[in-house]
Amino acid sequence: MIRDNVAALHAYMPGEQPQGAGWVKLNTNENPFMAPSIADAVAEASTDVLRLYPDPLCLDLRRALSERYSIPAEQIVCGNGSDDLLTMVVRATAGEGDRVAYPDPTYSLYETLTQIQGAFPLPVPLGPEWELPVEQLAAVGAKLTFVANPNAPTGTPYSLDQLDALAGALAGVLVVDEAYVDFGGETALPLLARHDNVLVLRTMSKAFGLAGVRLGFGFGSPAIVDALYKVKDSYNVDRLTQVAGVAALRAYDEAQAYNRDTAARRDRLAALLRERFGWRVWPSAANFILAETAPRSARDVYEGLKQQRILVRYFDRPRIENALRITIGSDPEVAALVQALDRMLR
Ligand SMILES: Cc1ncc(COP(=O)(O)O)c(C=O)c1O
Repeated sequence: MIRDNVAALHAYMPGEQPQGAGWVKLNTNENPFMAPSIADAVAEASTDVLRLYPDPLCLDLRRALSERYSIPAEQIVCGNGSDDLLTMVVRATAGEGDRVAYPDPTYSLYETLTQIQGAFPLPVPLGPEWELPVEQLAAVGAKLTFVANPNAPTGTPYSLDQLDALAGALAGVLVVDEAYVDFGGETALPLLARHDNVLVLRTMSKAFGLAGVRLGFGFGSPAIVDALYKVKDSYNVDRLTQVAGVAALRAYDEAQAYNRDTAARRDRLAALLRERFGWRVWPSAANFILAETAPRSARDVYEGLKQQRILVRYFDRPRIENALRITIGSDPEVAALVQALDRMLR
């Protein structure tokens, strides 16, 4: 009944969503802050207008995005989270057996979507310090190449020059996934003026504190964006999400001020973990850090924290099996984490 590639698939594993109250949740890079005006706008929009389908083209939202990011609305496409946009771009660009390249380790959904499509995933190892392997990625000759910038789960930022060189060397599409760019990365939006094979993806899940609403948006050349409109689900962004998106853009400055605090809290936590526990913490430009927990195993530390109702992300994957990915929560959440580690490790 089931296609061979789907039968063989290891489904993408989202981070745990614990049931019940009292958890400190530092495992899925959610934002502790969400502008209160967004909830007000959604409440106001919750009328019997919900009987009607939403705008399939998200025109109001795209106008607001166009103003905020200075990209024409015709070059913007919205999705049910950026995961939806990732699905759309795989659908539009990679046929059965075509190559899809990405550095490794990275966001594991790239591999899953490629396998679902029946295309051929080609992970290219990041350098020893997680450097972007520009030449090796270009040499794959892929129909589609994904680069998360900053990368997840390493937090590593890549420069505009590196992505410029990669875009120029590729015949296929380059997706620059900027889910975490607002916490300290350099955006690839200027590349749109120079390359028509670049699609820049953003999400409201992280920097805008709206993971529960599911809203992503992409900026690309008319050729790419038009193709995504052809393959997208008809009503892929619901009415309340479109309202939330416009309200979130109005509260942009508020969110960005909070994100700057998050970046400062990240750097303080990284320094503390290095000094107090001797951990290796990789430099991060995102709202999380990747920390190697030696001499204790990462799995032990993960389990010990979970017993204290603190969730962080453990990946049983080559090169990162000795590390934990820890979301930068609020001040009290970070303090609770440090206290719990003190109890376990000192
Ligand atoms: C690199 C990266 N891209 C995309 C996403 C998906 O975000 P969204 O919530 O918009 O689907 C995530 C979520 O964790 C991510 O880490």
